[in-house]
Amino acid sequence: MTRAERTPARRRVLLASDRDDRSEDLAAILGNLGEVDQISTQDMPDSPAGRYAGVVVDIDLMSMNSVQAVRRKLTARNYQALPRLFVLGDGVRLESIQAWSLGATDTIRWPFDAEDILQRVRASFPDTAEDTTTSGQALNAGVAAATNVMVKIFERLPAGTPLTLDDVMQSELKIIKALRRTSLREWLIAINKHHRRSYRHCLLVTGYAVAFAQHLGMREDDQRRLARAALIHDVGKAYIPLVILDKTEALTPREEIELSKHAQIGFDVFKGHGEFPREMLDVVLHHHEMLDGSGYPDGLKGEEIADLVRMITVADMFAMLVEDRPDSPPMTNAAAFTVMESLTGKLDMDMVRAFRPVALGA
Ligand SMILES: [Fe+2]
Ligand SMILES: [Fe+2]
Repeated sequence: MTRAERTPARRRVLLASDRDDRSEDLAAILGNLGEVDQISTQDMPDSPAGRYAGVVVDIDLMSMNSVQAVRRKLTARNYQALPRLFVLGDGVRLESIQAWSLGATDTIRWPFDAEDILQRVRASFPDTAEDTTTSGQALNAGVAAATNVMVKIFERLPAGTPLTLDDVMQSELKIIKALRRTSLREWLIAINKHHRRSYRHCLLVTGYAVAFAQHLGMREDDQRRLARAALIHDVGKAYIPLVILDKTEALTPREEIELSKHAQIGFDVFKGHGEFPREMLDVVLHHHEMLDGSGYPDGLKGEEIADLVRMITVADMFAMLVEDRPDSPPMTNAAAFTVMESLTGKLDMDMVRAFRPVALGA
């Protein structure tokens, strides 16, 4: 059975809301995914485990009373494994800090954007009924784990919660398993549903990088290094304004310069941290370097660029070429690979040749 033929996902969602003015609207949106139990925060059940895919919390995050009431529930043992989404008002940073302190898996925004909400709920609340095959479950678990890292990079990090090495490492095995049990093609279909361009890009690069490592027969340890590097390679983009990241027209030269700062910014974020291995910092800082010295930010040449960085550069560039971009239509895999082959002197051609079956097979 192909994924498209499987029964559509149904999730049972708990909506805990003190916002009578908008809870009906939110319940109606969530209703697209399955059953919604709409309750006030005082009525939150003591044992939600096993009954719900997750809880959506819509309260006044600036009110101590409201926060305290849900904190008691959400920190109880029975709630620990339950994914939780918090509704934030428009651009209030304190709300978001409060939400992360309550263990948010992700956040959604008011005014409500139905498509955005559904996407986030699907990504955060795994639905075992969606796909009962072992491979389907492995794929769902891998995509959910990788998406979770994206949330930590693009939402939590700029709000002030540092990304830890453990945050990234926890997802690696699930990603590797997802790609081993299914295929790169299935991974690409699953992650292409994601609406944020930066998420999609990093998930795409992760898929290509891990598939590349598996194609080369690398041992599991090295596959994990590739997954880790791919997940965080664009971490600096978390600090680039969304107007640039999600712009639907071509970037101006000034915006291009702004965007290119992400490599240095990402490195600066991690270097003070001390816990990320040196090779990860190297990937974050140097994945836009070219062998002939024409890349950025340091204009490194040849041997100065490590193998791990070169592999991520190949996966990253291929992803960029086949992606939906504002300034040009997406390329076919074959056309993108031809572009890569033409970059003699810039890319490691042995690596590009080895990447061929991965590029053209998906
Ligand atoms: Fe980048
Ligand atoms: Fe990238």
